[in-house]
Amino acid sequence: MTDKPRVWVSRPTFPGIIARLEPHFQVTVEAEERKFSQSELAARLAGQDAVIVGLKDRIGAAEIGAAERLRIVANLGVGYDNIDLDAMSAAGIAVSNTADVLNESVADYTWALLLGAARRMGAAERWLRAGHWQATEFKAWLGSDVRGRTLGILGMGRIGQAIARRALGFGMPVIYHNRTPLPEADERGCNARHVDKQQLLRESDFLVLALPLTTQTRHAVGAAELAQMKPTAMLINIARGGIVDDAALATALRERRLAGAALDVFEGEPKVHPGLLTLDNVVLSPHIASATTETRRAMTSVAVDNVLAMFGHGPQAGRPPNILNPNVL
Ligand code: DGY
Repeated sequence: MTDKPRVWVSRPTFPGIIARLEPHFQVTVEAEERKFSQSELAARLAGQDAVIVGLKDRIGAAEIGAAERLRIVANLGVGYDNIDLDAMSAAGIAVSNTADVLNESVADYTWALLLGAARRMGAAERWLRAGHWQATEFKAWLGSDVRGRTLGILGMGRIGQAIARRALGFGMPVIYHNRTPLPEADERGCNARHVDKQQLLRESDFLVLALPLTTQTRHAVGAAELAQMKPTAMLINIARGGIVDDAALATALRERRLAGAALDVFEGEPKVHPGLLTLDNVVLSPHIASATTETRRAMTSVAVDNVLAMFGHGPQAGRPPNILNPNVL
């Protein structure tokens, strides 16, 4: 038997796309998606040349301890806070993500959440399903318009910009805060104006979080930040759990110091802070902003392309396109 390099795929994805690896690699795909312990991950990574992993797989120095042949960790996600990039770089292992292919579907879903929160869709549906709809009342279920209200975006990468571009259709002015303001042409392209974080908090009617989770951004929105927001404002988190202090958010929502929220991500997910579960002014969603068939297929394809290119195959042979630590190449 030829000694092809080995790839481990930590979850079922799209077999037809993974099959592109088969001419060049011995491929092992886990039949079921689950959370692996540190020692299970270490055992699975040992002996692999490449791995395709997802957000539940936390990969750091301990997990790669016995992975002497490993050359690339391809992450099925644009966010890569599950991977210790420094530890991978120190071991000479490349890390790739799935930047870009999910921008538009995540932006669409952000608007679904924003509109759902503004128009109270989740609560209204629960009420209807519970059999409470006996008569239609003129003043029942009043939500708020979005037109003319200010959209704020914290973190203006490519997803933030895709969210901002859609605001034109809703007639909303856009302000944003980012460590580095966008070049003028990009600001014009999404009709957005850079402001400092305090102004963003004070002036946003809908504040969308679209920044990565790092040690600097953990609890970037906590009790102090929530206190600066308008009591009529709504917070939308499509970025990562941990960027918001969920306990502080639950308190602010319960006390109506903030009108509403829509959350796709949670601190410690899949657990959700119990204080959020009982509130009707928050839309809750199980981390599915990029979950369309087209996008999840595209994400799988990007991971496969990076593995192939890393080993000198495919159109990008030798130039894997999404490497986060190119210094190791
Ligand atoms: C990402 O790509 O980081 C998403 O959160 C996972 O779908």
